[in-house]
Amino acid sequence: MDMPARQRPTEGQLALASLVARGEGAQGEGITKVAASAYTDPTRFEAEQARLFGRRPMVIAPSALLPRPNMAVPHDGFGLPLLLARDKQGKAHVFYNVCRHRGTRLVEGAEPHCAPRLVCPYHAWSYALDGALVGLPRSDSFPGLDKADFHLAELPSAEAGGLIWFAREQSDFADAFGLAPEFDAFGLAGHHLYRRRVHDVAANWKLIMDAFLESYHVHRLHSPTIARFFADGVTAADTIGSHQRSAVGRTDHLAAINQGDWTALRAAITFAYQLFPATIMIMSPDYVNIMVLMPQAVGRTLVEDFMLIPEPPATPEEEDHWARSWTLLDEGVFAGEDYRAAALGQEGLSAGVLEELTLGTLETGIRHFHDAVERGLA
Ligand code: FES
Ligand SMILES: [Fe+2]
Repeated sequence: MDMPARQRPTEGQLALASLVARGEGAQGEGITKVAASAYTDPTRFEAEQARLFGRRPMVIAPSALLPRPNMAVPHDGFGLPLLLARDKQGKAHVFYNVCRHRGTRLVEGAEPHCAPRLVCPYHAWSYALDGALVGLPRSDSFPGLDKADFHLAELPSAEAGGLIWFAREQSDFADAFGLAPEFDAFGLAGHHLYRRRVHDVAANWKLIMDAFLESYHVHRLHSPTIARFFADGVTAADTIGSHQRSAVGRTDHLAAINQGDWTALRAAITFAYQLFPATIMIMSPDYVNIMVLMPQAVGRTLVEDFMLIPEPPATPEEEDHWARSWTLLDEGVFAGEDYRAAALGQEGLSAGVLEELTLGTLETGIRHFHDAVERGLA
């Protein structure tokens, strides 16, 4: 398939790919440690909630969740009743899912809603998808009410590179725009949402991030599923601000790395992104998984896994192909292996036997991530 012209790797992606091709760049320097209390201390969890999740811009969903104008989807995973919406001009918004009349939840459930108006179930005040109050029954009973004062409450947000970001306070979305070329390289904004699922994982959110910040476990934990696709420890990673980017060599294709052919390069090397604080992106050769982590308690995290594919399946064979990829990664690899390992980690660390975790040179990404968390808490 010919890729549109804009789907070209960035300089940074090419630089990582050459490190992987040469078998360099995999190793950090020496053994490092992480305090076990980082995962088990409720006070620490509260500080992270206030200073990271309460302040920072973070990814809430891929753009593909709202593929058309006049769509809205309730979102409750961050402990707030939110409503993601795309207005009729195509602009994305993050609103509170709360009617301005008497505070009723505006849209029920968690499924996408396609309509030019959102109508409150209680007294039928109606809102356009840009949040404007456009109608109320018996408006004569609200003498002097100015509809402009009853816009849905909105949180700061930005959409770039196929991702929707939001923040709980006024924020600078420079990272969202700065990272967009990385994802434009994969044509992410044009992708189709194939499936999504929320997992309830009995682990601290950082244990789940950790599982995607090292390739040491791939040939061990993933031996029943994907280990055979990857070379052991042939990997390179770098940081982009507090975010990380990594590349892992795929077994059969490494020898054939061709820097000039992006499709071939994606078949040879799997790129992944660990977006601070808590989003993971895995760029498989022909599809993308995005995991948005939503911490609930020190030892409990909701993870929404989104699988994006280049185009909607056109035939039963294509549907079957993507269904198998979905099951392999969402159920087999993520739930069955990575999240399970994170939950086992939480169980073991909660016993209080270890004061510190020990990281080898293939696990240095975890140390970088914890350093970024420390900086965010300072
Ligand atoms: S509470 Fe929504 S219309 Fe009354
Ligand atoms: Fe893994």
